[in-house]
Amino acid sequence: MEQQVFVHPPVSAERRPADEAESRRANQADWDRYADEYQATHGAFLGDVGFVWGPEGTTEAELGILGDVRDRDVLEIGSGAGQCSRWVSDQGGRGIGLDLSFRQLQHSRRIDEATGVAVPSVCGTATALPFADASFDIVFSSFGALQFVADGEVLLSEVARVLRPGGRFAFSVTHPTRWMFPDDPGEPGLVASQSYWDRTPYVEVNDATDEVSYVEHHRTIEDWVDLLRGVNMALIRFVEPEWPADHDRVWGGWSRTRGLLTPGTAIFVATLLG
Ligand SMILES: C[S@@+](CC[C@H](N)C(=O)[O-])C[C@H]1O[C@@H](n2cnc3c(N)ncnc32)[C@H](O)[C@@H]1O
Repeated sequence: MEQQVFVHPPVSAERRPADEAESRRANQADWDRYADEYQATHGAFLGDVGFVWGPEGTTEAELGILGDVRDRDVLEIGSGAGQCSRWVSDQGGRGIGLDLSFRQLQHSRRIDEATGVAVPSVCGTATALPFADASFDIVFSSFGALQFVADGEVLLSEVARVLRPGGRFAFSVTHPTRWMFPDDPGEPGLVASQSYWDRTPYVEVNDATDEVSYVEHHRTIEDWVDLLRGVNMALIRFVEPEWPADHDRVWGGWSRTRGLLTPGTAIFVATLLG
């Protein structure tokens, strides 16, 4: 098979404020640009009809975080190519995807056709969900929209609005403690150099245009719990997947070197109180 070559525009990384409009504009363009490379690099690991919660490779089949999905209405926010929702549909759930990136959703359609398991998907932002109130039993995200959004309160209130009372919300994000370390999979990534409590976003700026080209937002564990409490959700489970002893995959800043010592992924599981 022909080797694909991906070209990256030179960027500089810094910590600086970025509001919701700037975050969304930058991340939409970035994910449209990066989608082909992302799917070429990680698609086999994710599995076309597969549900992993993070770079450790821990699966929903192992963790059972969503509970029984059969006959449940399930929304995935930041669904990318829909691998997780396809797994949900394969298990008998009614999976629906939502993603900011049209190119990611084109990959979703490609895999729908290849596998015969289709995930109805919509292009939009998790901060303005195009669904009626109380439409879903479960809303989830595997490293999807949560850490790309500036307006955490708006996102959480949208999730609470579309969930039915007693419904479940589960999401994985970069483990908040990782924000203390340089995003380096090697030894330098083991030395704490930044304050855990510094919420200034991580921003990449295009060297040629000086435009913000990518944004991630940091929240502490306390921040996430407060956001959930603020929309009448109760945390019912918190999972920090351990790095498997035989797992040797490098994914960005995630590696065996770091994974054996510090958690890389945090999974929050909450229920909407009636
Ligand atoms: C790391 S990928 C994860 C995708 C998928 N869950 C997976 O495991 O491959 C993050 C996804 O979040 C999407 N995203 C970023 N900001 C978003 C937003 N505000 N609303 C919805 N999706 C967003 C991106 O387009 C991207 O597809």
